[in-house]
Amino acid sequence: MNNQYHNLVPENLDAFWMPFSAQRQFKEDPRFIVSAQGMYYTDSQGHETLDGSAGLWCVNAGHHRKHINDAIAQQLATLDFAHSFNSGHPLAFHYASRLIKHVPDPLNHVFFTNSGSESVDTALKIALAYHRRNGEAGRQRLIGREKGYHGMGFGGLSVGGLVKNRNPFGLLLPGTDHIRQTHGLEANRFARGLPPEGKELALDLQRLVELHGADSIAAVIVEPIGGAGGVHLPPVGYLQLLRNLCDEHGILLIFDEVITGCGRTGACTAAERFGVVPDIMTTAKGITNATIPISAVIVPDSMYEPIKDASGDIGVFGHGYTYSGHPVACAAGMATLDIYEQEGLFERPKALQDTWQDAALSLSDFPNVIDVRCFALLGAIELAPREGAPMQRGAAVAKRCYEKGAWVRPIGDSLVLSPPLIISEAEIKRIFEIIGEAICEVG
Ligand SMILES: Cc1ncc(COP(=O)(O)O)c(C=O)c1O
Repeated sequence: MNNQYHNLVPENLDAFWMPFSAQRQFKEDPRFIVSAQGMYYTDSQGHETLDGSAGLWCVNAGHHRKHINDAIAQQLATLDFAHSFNSGHPLAFHYASRLIKHVPDPLNHVFFTNSGSESVDTALKIALAYHRRNGEAGRQRLIGREKGYHGMGFGGLSVGGLVKNRNPFGLLLPGTDHIRQTHGLEANRFARGLPPEGKELALDLQRLVELHGADSIAAVIVEPIGGAGGVHLPPVGYLQLLRNLCDEHGILLIFDEVITGCGRTGACTAAERFGVVPDIMTTAKGITNATIPISAVIVPDSMYEPIKDASGDIGVFGHGYTYSGHPVACAAGMATLDIYEQEGLFERPKALQDTWQDAALSLSDFPNVIDVRCFALLGAIELAPREGAPMQRGAAVAKRCYEKGAWVRPIGDSLVLSPPLIISEAEIKRIFEIIGEAICEVG
């Protein structure tokens, strides 16, 4: 290798146990990303690729934003760290106040965490604590959805619905259950935008109410748009129906907006875009444009005020993390909000939606394409699995895309897409052109 990045390539590839990775395959044919700018990554071979995934659904404002980097450097030089356990630094309060302006009423109190997984586990715990304070301690069941992804903490994994993630870890938390997934209805294949059919799948919650009793159920958690399971869009009317059922049965509705937050759907939150407000919202990833880990759980007065009022008797609410509200992460979050606000990035996916959908659906007749899902700046091209070798076609096409200059992520045999929100129309067209060529070349 003869280029400027040579010295960045490591010799020992086994010290680092890589997350969510096939260790052997990666190490046999490693790829090292060494820099990023705007819409592009560069690897150690000097090869540039368009970032079709915004990192992992998180670099929503594009790479290497100087305003954020400067804010981080300045904060490090001023106050590198102060904890928030019965103490405070101003930034966490300022940042929380700014965040709540971007989420729908009545969500207006922020609990800071450090990852999507921590946010989910925190949200589930808040739901349990809320019912207990409300005199309904029997409400302990937590309901997720098949194919859902809510991170890898024990809580999130237990309500998650992806068998490959759950299986290696045994029984997980007791008292969890799952409503049916929304994916795979024949009538919804190649739908433009939200799938027209399947809103009644939300009624599956009624089945669980009848099975367990509503007074045993604390909360139901869903991703408004399923991401890591392969981009599964909610059928028209589905989320509203779920909301109605939760209201009817006193069950809290949690929206896991770790992916759908921060503009991905054409509004700051999917709750806003779909006009359905949850009782608890989680968010992470895009809130610092992925520069520094921080995440947030946002709740209404009805959950925060009783805990606050009781603090004279109960003292501390026994939950939190060393780095909850880390000042450097808060500085990064504030600077990221500056960019989102100044550049109107939360609204941009709505403006680009037609171009996005035209480009995505142009692949409908390509060989082996069995579904295209596309909404705002989110999508998936689903390929027919090779006989006896599921996931290989998706992986092979994604590899070819990378060689041709677009980095897209295979999940099973679906290529999932969630580019930075700064993407241009020409770059949208280019990504789908590359995918189309790769599909034909790989076969
Ligand atoms: C909906 C959702 N929830 C939670 C998580 C977990 O986030 P993290 O990997 O930051 O723990 C993810 C990650 O992709 C996610 O998509």
